[in-house]
Amino acid sequence: MTNPESVQSHYGTEPLIDRVEKALHLAGLDQGPVGWSQLAALDQFHIRGLEASEELGAELSLTPESHVLDVGSGLGGPARFLASTYGCRVTGIDLNPSFVDVATMLAGRTGLAERVTYHQADALQLPYGDGTFDHAWTQHVAMNIQDRPRLYGEIHRVLKPGGQLAIYDITAGTGGELIFPVLWARRPDISFLLTSEAMRQVLTAAGFSVVSWADKSQDGLAWYAKQAQQAATKPRPALNLGVVMGPEFAEMSANMARNLAEGRIRLTQAVVRRPSIAR
Ligand SMILES: C[S@@+](CC[C@H](N)C(=O)[O-])C[C@H]1O[C@@H](n2cnc3c(N)ncnc32)[C@H](O)[C@@H]1O
Repeated sequence: MTNPESVQSHYGTEPLIDRVEKALHLAGLDQGPVGWSQLAALDQFHIRGLEASEELGAELSLTPESHVLDVGSGLGGPARFLASTYGCRVTGIDLNPSFVDVATMLAGRTGLAERVTYHQADALQLPYGDGTFDHAWTQHVAMNIQDRPRLYGEIHRVLKPGGQLAIYDITAGTGGELIFPVLWARRPDISFLLTSEAMRQVLTAAGFSVVSWADKSQDGLAWYAKQAQQAATKPRPALNLGVVMGPEFAEMSANMARNLAEGRIRLTQAVVRRPSIAR
């Protein structure tokens, strides 16, 4: 089974607030209000950044009355995007306490603290009662989680009947073994990719029905090509994920692009639904 300490130490056990404050200062965002989208290069911690969240958000019918659970909320950018765009409430949980601290700080800086809250918790033991949330959301988290039946079972449990789960995850390809380090793991011991088909089977076995299912690998490749072009022609912006992942970030990113290009990984976007009639 996944060792939560190993996953925590991959993403960093040192307090992160000071590094993020420094990056905000360098970006000229240390004073006054900050727009949530100004943070996207830092806080959308997945391939294709904000555009992937916008696409996934459009798949859900969110309203100001919706309460969404973001499983593995990272620095909290996707939750702030959802709250700001749809007026909904979002609760994020993440294993890493320093990410929760930064997410909470950034919610305050972007004026969204009344609609987004973040808590430290393990996705395998969600600290919420049955049927608490209207919808759930998870992006680039499941690849660190071995016990997928339990992950999707927990999300199914805390969703109201009829609630939807929006997923954007890295899945296993047929192009061979992964090249490490990647953003979610420096070594194979905390990497647990499933193929898209296997993920679909586990979700179905957990009681979900599939609403939509799409492969986004080509979009991911196009995004990496654009990123490379920008890196070659523009100075690196102060807000970037290297602030979080440290000096290995460049190598991790290059490996992610290579793994995707060689079909070792794929990108899957899906929406599944907890049926309205309790099973
Ligand atoms: C690549 S980041 C993605 C963050 C965020 N979903 C986003 O897309 O911006 C992966 C996140 O998953 C979290 N995570 C991994 N395993 C977890 C678990 N068992 N429970 C809760 N969070 C977990 C990590 O701490 C990290 O913040």
